[in-house]
Amino acid sequence: MNVFTEISDIRIQRWAEPLTTWGLVPTMGYLHEGHLSLVRRARQENDRVGVSIFVNPTQFNNPNDLVAYPRDMERDLALLQEAGADLVWTPTPEMVYPPGYQTYVEVEKVPRPLEGAARPGHFRGVATIVAKLFNVFQPQRAYFGQKDAQQVVVIKRMVEDLNFNLEIIVNPTVREADGLAMSSRNARLSPAARQSATCLYQALLAAKSIFEQGQRSADSLRAAMRAVIESTRLARLDYVSVAHPDTLAELDMVEDKALLSLAVFVDEVRLIDNMLVDGKQ
Ligand code: PAF
Repeated sequence: MNVFTEISDIRIQRWAEPLTTWGLVPTMGYLHEGHLSLVRRARQENDRVGVSIFVNPTQFNNPNDLVAYPRDMERDLALLQEAGADLVWTPTPEMVYPPGYQTYVEVEKVPRPLEGAARPGHFRGVATIVAKLFNVFQPQRAYFGQKDAQQVVVIKRMVEDLNFNLEIIVNPTVREADGLAMSSRNARLSPAARQSATCLYQALLAAKSIFEQGQRSADSLRAAMRAVIESTRLARLDYVSVAHPDTLAELDMVEDKALLSLAVFVDEVRLIDNMLVDGKQ
């Protein structure tokens, strides 16, 4: 596995064997099983696997979050080596956004609700860095987790609109044994908050359960999720949503598919989770 900071070194290795297929796994580091499952899948589906580790400043609307973001490069590189990565890019912020930088990618509609409403500018930063990563690695496939459902919708829209020549592959959310979705933020939970944090998954299961019993009113599904969060110690609801999985528009009635999602502060740590439901399955 080679680890480079310079873009030119990434390009040299990427194009050393022009006929090989490349899978890219973009990350912000502090890797967990969710990231590693993406690397392993990329390993199976491509000749070579590239990974980026970059805590992207332009997607943080709160400067304190950027400073507090956990980092452990040595451990990340050991995990990537074990998972079978071939090439890792670890650029500095100055390399990605040099003095005079002024170009951003802005997807217009799908970033507005949900996480976009709670974190202004977040998806402009995500779309910009992901477009840059696609240009640097020029992979055939790029891998993302369903955990960040809106990010996936935004990136798919950008790929379609800007004619990026690659396939977006989405892996299911990887969960702890009690259902908590894996996230780098989980490291910030106190033991008591960690116990309460399973409420997101429980809320999704509660809504899914009444959906499977035939409930199609989006308000009833939202109420089921809200009830679980409101009865959990240390949990404070930010939003619950029952939206169309592609447009992310809030639904009144679920025709067939819906994206159930929510954001919850658990003792000041903001967690998100989601689940797709499909009445036709
Ligand atoms: O999901 C993430 O970790 C980040 O948003 C990504 C896609 C690596 C862009 O910085």
